[in-house]
Amino acid sequence: MVEIKIKKNGPILVHGKVRLEGPDGEEIVLEKEVIALCRCGESTNKPFCDGTHSGCFSPDS
Ligand code: FES
Repeated sequence: MVEIKIKKNGPILVHGKVRLEGPDGEEIVLEKEVIALCRCGESTNKPFCDGTHSGCFSPDS
């Protein structure tokens, strides 16, 4: 089972075994069973969250 959580003022956490595909169809190899996907657009390691989101979100996002 895959569980997806949207963190308040943070990334989208994906728990479970998934296959992640890049924009050109290439598989992005995942080394962990929990990944954090950026939803602020500021990460330098997209599609993953690198913590840059701090202060990017409005209080209710
Ligand atoms: S959500 Fe963390 S860097 Fe974008």
